[in-house]
Amino acid sequence: MEQLRTEIRHHEHLYYVLDSPVITDADYDAMIRRLRALEERHPDLIAADSPTVRVGGAPREGFQQVNHSEPMLSLDNALNEGELRAFDERVRGLLSDAPHAYVAELKFDGLSLAVRYGGGVLKQAITRGDGGTGEDVTENARTIRSLPLRVATTEPFEVRGEVVMPNKAFQSLNEEREQQGLPRYANPRNSAAGSLRVLDPAITAGRRLDFYGYIRLPAPGSQWESLELLHEEGFKVGRHRRLCTDIDELLAFIQEWESKRETLPFEIDGVVVKVDSQAQQRQLGWTARAPRWAIAFKYPPRQAETALRSIAIQVGRTGVLTPVAHLGPGPVSGVMVSRATLHNEDEIERLGLAAGDTVVIERSGDVIPKIVKVARHGDERVKFAMPRHCPVCGEPVVRAEGEVASRCLNPNCPARLKESLRYFASRGVMDIDGMGEALIEQLAGKGLLKSIADLYQLEAGQLAGLDRMGEKSAARIMRGIEASKRKSLARLINGLGIPFVGERTAVLLGGTFGSLDAIAQASEEKLQETPEVGVKVAQAIRRYFDNGHNREMIERLRAAGLNFTQEKVRSEDGPLSGLTFVITGTLPSMSRDEAKLMIEHAGGKTSGAVSKKTDFLVAGEAAGSKLEKANTLGVKIIDEEALRRMVGEGGRA
Ligand code: IVH
Repeated sequence: MEQLRTEIRHHEHLYYVLDSPVITDADYDAMIRRLRALEERHPDLIAADSPTVRVGGAPREGFQQVNHSEPMLSLDNALNEGELRAFDERVRGLLSDAPHAYVAELKFDGLSLAVRYGGGVLKQAITRGDGGTGEDVTENARTIRSLPLRVATTEPFEVRGEVVMPNKAFQSLNEEREQQGLPRYANPRNSAAGSLRVLDPAITAGRRLDFYGYIRLPAPGSQWESLELLHEEGFKVGRHRRLCTDIDELLAFIQEWESKRETLPFEIDGVVVKVDSQAQQRQLGWTARAPRWAIAFKYPPRQAETALRSIAIQVGRTGVLTPVAHLGPGPVSGVMVSRATLHNEDEIERLGLAAGDTVVIERSGDVIPKIVKVARHGDERVKFAMPRHCPVCGEPVVRAEGEVASRCLNPNCPARLKESLRYFASRGVMDIDGMGEALIEQLAGKGLLKSIADLYQLEAGQLAGLDRMGEKSAARIMRGIEASKRKSLARLINGLGIPFVGERTAVLLGGTFGSLDAIAQASEEKLQETPEVGVKVAQAIRRYFDNGHNREMIERLRAAGLNFTQEKVRSEDGPLSGLTFVITGTLPSMSRDEAKLMIEHAGGKTSGAVSKKTDFLVAGEAAGSKLEKANTLGVKIIDEEALRRMVGEGGRA
């Protein structure tokens, strides 16, 4: 069991801290399952720091107050070059020698956490609180996968760092919350804080938080060495850091990251500059507020003022009416924005908005900006009122009790239909190349598309007669429609537009039931056996399949030959058994995840990194370092078509 635990820890470190797994998720899951089974049989041998007990503690009554080992102070800010130079002058004035070097690190926009280790295990995690005392959030912090539960160092030490929620996790959490009728989080920092300070660790566990260490107590000789040591000890530390000898180098780093901050998977709000030498830090000491050896260079918030021209209504595929703000347009940190979602009428009320006002918009973690507040009222203000009838089909609009959303309940509403078709055909779903908004609009206008199933009745001749459509493009679209029939079951389920069933739930449903028919026939109880599917989602699925129109449409999809099945579990003795694959670059017709599933279903293994043990590298477009490595190691390189042939699908043009 201890061997298995060590192996699992190793793979967790590769996956969560280094972002470079060498085994598949399925293999990892299998190891965890095996360990759980052993622990069930030998409960006396369960270790407190076993990887299976990340979510161990029961929900708590409240958090214990704990004193910090050293005050957790804040940092003084520099808002421009002058203030940074003044900091440097102060440091030089106080030190007997000139500062040897400064370390520039990204300033993570999350919440700080102090984590104590002793005897090689995680002992306690404490929020900053008032700086002197914080709250004991150990059980919740244990669920953060990039925070090691066990370390090689046995002497007591403390790591201070930032808990952040990556932008992707933030966006999908907000989408989920919106689907469930819950208010959205304003930014990744708030949602990280909200996720860490809940009383039930199981909720934190589901939130995909990350921890970046930036201070070690006690520290080795310098800040730079602290970061390296933390990395060696298994912590995630910011990769983007620089050892600078003067202010100009620091300024270059600061400028570089101001323009590149958009490319990071998490939010930053500046750069932290620290005197590198520990001895010099000690000489400089602290004020009552902050250390004299560090300063935070803050980036301006990505806010801008712009005119709110009008508020329009968009009808989504589930019938929800969403108010959309049409803006200025004006740039926000260099990016032009013309629209912002307002989510619902309560939000407009809360902000006190009316068309004609000047508003402040801000971007933070989200792709679409949001309106923060009204800057000035306009002279001619047009107040918003949620329409009582759908602006597209004219049917009544209903706002259910306890919900923030207003919906058009007409299942045949043309807006809902168009949105469902657009979603169904989109890249991440059935991927019908060329079937975009404009074409759907035309086809629906001619009465050729009244349901998703009508897509499969289209003929090339009908397409060729349309605006801006030659024979070639018509043929391309027909090929796209044909190819969509072979897409995975998960994609099809996602494309159907069942309320509350998005991409992730679709994958889980497909994997649990193995066929669309099995899902359609399952009782609510049975449906709830699917991971992450609760009462509400199960009810929505049941209701969807009990509806006669939906059933009829599904029969038409079946008759058209769409793929309704997938393998439930992976087969051990398929054509690829004993072979290990690495996938890199963009494949012509499937995502890397799909390729991975295909390989695993055929009995093969996939890995994230090329090594001597790799049998094949499946390379797509823009393959980079993995392709180079495969070349140097002499690993065989194949394309998607060859992979399809190997699993017995035959190549496709
Ligand atoms: S060092 C004595 N390094 O910014 C304080 N802080 O505005 C030492 N922060 O409270 C903090 N990234 O929560 C440090 N690379 C980084 C940081 C960082 C984010 C946060 C931290 C701190 C706040 C100060």
